[in-house]
Amino acid sequence: MTDIKTHPEESRQIVIFDTTLRDGEQSPGASMNPAEKLEVAKALVQLGVDVIEAGFPIASPGDFEAVRDIARSIRGPTICALARCRNEDIDRAWEAICESLSPRIHVFLATSAIHREHKLRMSKEQIIDHAVAGVRRAANYCPDVEFSPEDAVRTEIDFLCQVVEAAIEAGATTINIPDTVGYATPAQMRHVIETLRRRVPNIDRAVISVHCHDDLGLALANSLAGIEAGAGQVECTINGIGERAGNCALEEVVMALRTRHDYYRAHTRIVTQRLVPTSRLVAGITGLQVQRNKAIVGRNAFAHEAGIHQDGVLKEPRTYEIMRPEDVGLTRSDLVLGKHSGRAALAARAEELGYRLTPEQLNILFEDFKRLADKKKEIYDGDLIALIEHQMQTVAETFVLESYEVSTGTGRTPRVRLALRRGEERLETELSAGDGPIDAVFLAIEKLTGLPVVCRDFHVHSVTVGKDALGEVTVQLEHAGELYRGRGVSTDSVEASALAFLNAINRIVANQAEPAPTAE
Ligand code: KIV
Ligand code: ZN
Repeated sequence: MTDIKTHPEESRQIVIFDTTLRDGEQSPGASMNPAEKLEVAKALVQLGVDVIEAGFPIASPGDFEAVRDIARSIRGPTICALARCRNEDIDRAWEAICESLSPRIHVFLATSAIHREHKLRMSKEQIIDHAVAGVRRAANYCPDVEFSPEDAVRTEIDFLCQVVEAAIEAGATTINIPDTVGYATPAQMRHVIETLRRRVPNIDRAVISVHCHDDLGLALANSLAGIEAGAGQVECTINGIGERAGNCALEEVVMALRTRHDYYRAHTRIVTQRLVPTSRLVAGITGLQVQRNKAIVGRNAFAHEAGIHQDGVLKEPRTYEIMRPEDVGLTRSDLVLGKHSGRAALAARAEELGYRLTPEQLNILFEDFKRLADKKKEIYDGDLIALIEHQMQTVAETFVLESYEVSTGTGRTPRVRLALRRGEERLETELSAGDGPIDAVFLAIEKLTGLPVVCRDFHVHSVTVGKDALGEVTVQLEHAGELYRGRGVSTDSVEASALAFLNAINRIVANQAEPAPTAE
């Protein structure tokens, strides 16, 4: 295990461009409200990313607001906004990021034959003219301009070289090469980057970047191939979330560069101990759970099952571990807290788990913790994380669950009595319907809130172990063609389901966002 504290002279620094808030947010059902985006942006600062792509401001007023808030309050990383090569997009992008101390406009235009002919209906000459005009307009606003020839990997290489040269001439300082549809192979990616470096005369005036999608499971391999060929920036997302199969996972590319520094001779500024806490935060906010065997941040990533492996790790961790769990922010011990643990122990544990809480947040957490400790003897890290993340959900609680009662049994239709509160008003219903107690509770909430929804996804999992474990429910509801997620936690799984359902309903009420154009 190489611990890279100092970087030998020949080590290159790779710029980490995080697009969790833009491409990542394009994962179906992963949309975040402006407050949630700001929360993620703050975590990205602590993680040490170099560039935060905060959104696509022309897409909707909510996107604009989120990018503007981030540009106003986040200091450290460059704040980037996406725009098509259209005047109104570029003007809006600049309006959103102009208060940042380090703004970047990212303009993109598709260049492949299939996009030119079928989507844009433009000739090669028109593409070059539009790209140049877009880059120039962006460069008039700020000196840091990124240009992406969308679907670059499927673009004729001669034409790609021409477009890239023209974009740099017009003022682009970063040239991003997207594999928009996840079609590339590592050898091809390497060839594209090497060719650009060899054939584009002004290429030294720009940083080359790679942006790989994971449709064939090759996003990491392709990104690393691009870096090997000379790319100086990699675009990635936390947990690899993103359009369709997602983007290259930040945690994977960072740890690959760090663990195999002997080979890549490249490093990043990422504080790797923040990888797991950031992954948990993003999973909690987006509702996109991380698969157990996910590299670096999955629950099983450092769990050894085979006896031979366990024996080896106990004798010498390096026998079966190529990275140390603590280097990615996992603690070896799962400290148990209980009824008698005080506020200081709770605060210390929350901090060790990567959460910096305000005194008000700590007060609420302490109350929730005491309530849970009354029901459950031992409180594990997983319980604590669930309580903290529940509290961090920033959607306005229009409807609050006051009480419920369900009776059911084999061969009987469930009977539910449920009460909600909306401000001062108390809403109550009683009905006999549904396929089981959870379905009955959902029907009662739907009836009281008057919002017609279709439940598209429902997951329940236990956060820790034991029969008194805290259950976490995530739901995805469809309303008027849009997907909304909700999350609830409780030791009672019916109550957790009701809370998750209401959380999604409250998002519907809060989020009356307009339909948004998206970029891949
Ligand atoms: O995948 C893609 O092509 C994109 C561009 C907007 C960079 O996300
Ligand atoms: Zn993309």
